[in-house]
Amino acid sequence: MRLVVVSNRVTVPEKGEKVAAGGLAVALRSALEKHGGLWFGWSGATAAEPAGEITPQRHGKVSYAVIDLTEAERQSYYLGFSNRALWPLMHYRLGLTEFQRPDYAGYLAVNRRFARLLVPLLQPDDVIWIHDYHLIPLAAELRRRGVTNRIGYFHHIPWPPAEVFGALPFSSTLISSMTAYDLIGMQTQKDADNIVDGLTKLTAARREERFIVTQQRRTLVQAFPIGIDVEGFRKLAVSSVRAATQPIRATTGPLGGRKLVIGVDRLDYSKGIVQRLEAFGLFLRSHPEYRGDVGLLQIAPPSRSDVPEYAELDRQSDEVAGRLNAALGEFDWTPIRVVKKAYSRSALAGFYRRAQVGLVTPMRDGMNLVAKEYVAAQNPDDPGVLVLSRFAGAAQQMGEALIVNPYDTHEVAEAIRTALAMPRQERIRRFERLYSVIAATDIAWWTSRYLAVLTGKVPAESADELPPPARVPRRGGPRRAVAEDAPAEKPAAASRRRSLRLVKDSAGEDEAPRRKFAQAGNPALLPNAPTPR
Ligand code: F6P
Repeated sequence: MRLVVVSNRVTVPEKGEKVAAGGLAVALRSALEKHGGLWFGWSGATAAEPAGEITPQRHGKVSYAVIDLTEAERQSYYLGFSNRALWPLMHYRLGLTEFQRPDYAGYLAVNRRFARLLVPLLQPDDVIWIHDYHLIPLAAELRRRGVTNRIGYFHHIPWPPAEVFGALPFSSTLISSMTAYDLIGMQTQKDADNIVDGLTKLTAARREERFIVTQQRRTLVQAFPIGIDVEGFRKLAVSSVRAATQPIRATTGPLGGRKLVIGVDRLDYSKGIVQRLEAFGLFLRSHPEYRGDVGLLQIAPPSRSDVPEYAELDRQSDEVAGRLNAALGEFDWTPIRVVKKAYSRSALAGFYRRAQVGLVTPMRDGMNLVAKEYVAAQNPDDPGVLVLSRFAGAAQQMGEALIVNPYDTHEVAEAIRTALAMPRQERIRRFERLYSVIAATDIAWWTSRYLAVLTGKVPAESADELPPPARVPRRGGPRRAVAEDAPAEKPAAASRRRSLRLVKDSAGEDEAPRRKFAQAGNPALLPNAPTPR
């Protein structure tokens, strides 16, 4: 079997490039390398003329076939129908859904062109795996051209109930094109139920157990919660903190060794960034003893800035952060930092490990891999606490996080307080449960499980069996905690220090200073709290 992956964006590796650990792209690349294969999609660039034919470039066992779009196609297919109609609709935001017929026509035309260019590259034993909402009708276009191979689809974002999806003009045509797939993979059971609901209510298809049945095909609909490279990310976090790279040093510099609450999201309205900033402001107002002691670092790399709703969010987040900082900040303390740029995975892993609270509060999200990365990056001896939106797919698996309703600013503010005050034993208990779940369903499990079901190696009846919880990283007590996160140093210096640490650590983890500090009055004028890591 050869694997053919199709996704909206494809990044062709530069010659000799070392691929950063983690991420969906890395997982797909390793599945492609294992089976040998082809990765097909948009280059992310535009060209004056539409591509007539395509010549794959080979890197090791993987061939990459990428096409440029014309500017008109980028506008209609990518920005227009995919990101102004489907994206808000799939995230239950009918009010933001902007449907234009020319955009829909452009979307269908690009899918047709993808199919036309892909067909000559296909071989009879290929298994085709199509990703994401940009490419919903692609299998139907391939079938129209005579392709009989197994074709699977994975939907990375939420799928709304039929009532919501049905509001989209041409919704029946679009959803019925999904019956051209052999397997439809969704992030959660709820999403799987919603698409089955849509297929049975909006089309002539009927349901038979786990299948959607038409005259042509039986399509299996199944939830496969996507994961991350948990072990790889954990190692990245340890080495990032040990190496004390510049960004990580900086969090103990300008943030003054204060406690850190972290949010990391693309600048997207589905992520609830503005609501999160408001919740952090409310937390500081309701619990003034924390002022001066804790800061929120929101990393928000800009995304889809040509879409007006994203440009508006950019403006709004600056406005809210500025207002809250002006109202609550002090001459030596800025409560909120919003940084609108992307950081390396290594820097992010270090930030997560350094943060006492991971704030993952999307208004709606397919899975949310930041929630999993935050947990994977924690120090097992002194883990931080994850505050997680109940509307993120990850909440279905990660019930030991503090689960919140992101629309309830008060509830999120109180969860921040609960997280910051949580005793170490309770943090460890929650961390261990979370870690064992995400490690058991990591990205390698997700990829192989999906492909095993698509190729029929796992029968449909047992397709939703989940693996048992995985082992959690070994804890070594406070001494190990210090040793694991300490910057790398010369052996002689390390051994001199070790004896000092042993003396210091023999007192064990001391929660008392943190609690005392949190209870002190007028904390804005108090010196910086010692950082626990
Ligand atoms: O989560 C859906 C998704 O389309 C991903 O596939 C993609 O990496 C991400 O959103 C960012 O989207 P874009 O390619 O529009 O920047």
